[in-house]
Amino acid sequence: MIITPVIKGVVARSAHPLGCQQAVRNQINYVKSVAPIDNGPKKVLILGASSGFGLASRIALAFGGAQADTIGVSFERGPCEKGVGTAGWYNNIFFRQEAEKAGLIGKNVIGDAFSPQTRQQVIDYIRTEFDGKLDLVVYSLATGVRPDPETGEMWRSSIKAIGEPVTGPTINLETDTMEQMTIESALEHEIEATEKVMGGEDWASWIDILSEAGVLAEGCKTVAYSYIGAKSTYPIYHQGTLGRAKMHLHATSNTLNDKLAAIGGSAHVSVCKALVTKASVFIPAFSPYILALFKVMKDKGLHEGCIEQMQRLFSERLYGTEHTVPVDSQRLIRIDDWELSDDVQQEVASLMNQITHDNFAQIGDYHGYKSDFMQLNGFDLKGVDYQSDICIDSLQRLMP
Ligand code: NAI
Ligand code: NA
Repeated sequence: MIITPVIKGVVARSAHPLGCQQAVRNQINYVKSVAPIDNGPKKVLILGASSGFGLASRIALAFGGAQADTIGVSFERGPCEKGVGTAGWYNNIFFRQEAEKAGLIGKNVIGDAFSPQTRQQVIDYIRTEFDGKLDLVVYSLATGVRPDPETGEMWRSSIKAIGEPVTGPTINLETDTMEQMTIESALEHEIEATEKVMGGEDWASWIDILSEAGVLAEGCKTVAYSYIGAKSTYPIYHQGTLGRAKMHLHATSNTLNDKLAAIGGSAHVSVCKALVTKASVFIPAFSPYILALFKVMKDKGLHEGCIEQMQRLFSERLYGTEHTVPVDSQRLIRIDDWELSDDVQQEVASLMNQITHDNFAQIGDYHGYKSDFMQLNGFDLKGVDYQSDICIDSLQRLMP
């Protein structure tokens, strides 16, 4: 079978296993080629490990100097009659294979991170195969739904504005067109539900459960990821429902930091750069900003992807030779510093003023945006033979 890309709106409905393997290898090669993570963690749990920042965290921590054993939790689907399965499914498999070749543990737990069963499975594994202790917990889940642990009813997040509705252009990856769209103003219960799904409550519950189980090592750290962005995007992100959820996440980091102080540990939020991931393409009206940002940062030689961001986070901020973690006045780690620098933002603002539905592909970095999206799903990678006949039976034999 020849696997071809299938895109619906901003969702990829197919994935190329060999491309996913190549993408994992490219990230491994990158972290091996740059300054290593000194004094890094040895036993790490990554929630949301199969793509985006979580996968990049896992690769950086295993191959970027720390040589960490990792447990990666994710919600992914393997091959079946309906299709080849998700990119994250293959990322997990090929990560584990590479980790094992390097003598490291790369345990994949495929399941719902919100369920008590998954939590128990992780704790059991830590006890039996992981020396009983974690040095770091990375919280990188991105999802639209979370069950209420009390009732089992689903909270659903909404990507909406708070206050006035916002109209702006967005990009359809299926048709390569820029379209006008309006983000409605959120109702109070939608703001609350988004906070429940993407705020810090579930992060805190994981840390509590792991702590009660006694599987956090002395000095254990935890980190979750956030976005703030430029003023021009505040109405859609920072001051909208997602931003509200992130405020909750930031507050949670302080509560967790106080708790972990008892074992000499810490909790941080790292504010990251805007990047193309499975999750971020859903944010309405955000794509023109990313097109302008990528163009400017690439011209200046400052562009980073998930893997560059995560290697910098662990080698220069969370670990390394300094004893303190550099943070801003809100106690946030800022690896969005290059994105938000004045000269980058001035050029981004002037470029965004010029972008129209006719010229976005020429004056913004649409090529880079689309190519990143394709690569998330294993397409458009150099060195992969996309004409090769992929045997579905052999894919089915690959175990997570
Ligand atoms: P992603 O979509 O690439 O990764 C999400 C991960 O969560 C996947 O591994 C997925 O399998 C897992 N997941 C989702 N629901 C699950 C469930 N119920 N059980 C187990 N696993 C589940 O997302 P991305 O973009 O890497 O986001 C991670 C974090 O980074 C989020 O907090 C996001 O807000 C933040 N962030 C993203 C930025 C961006 O531009 N993409 C910028 C700054 C922060
Ligand atoms: Na992730």
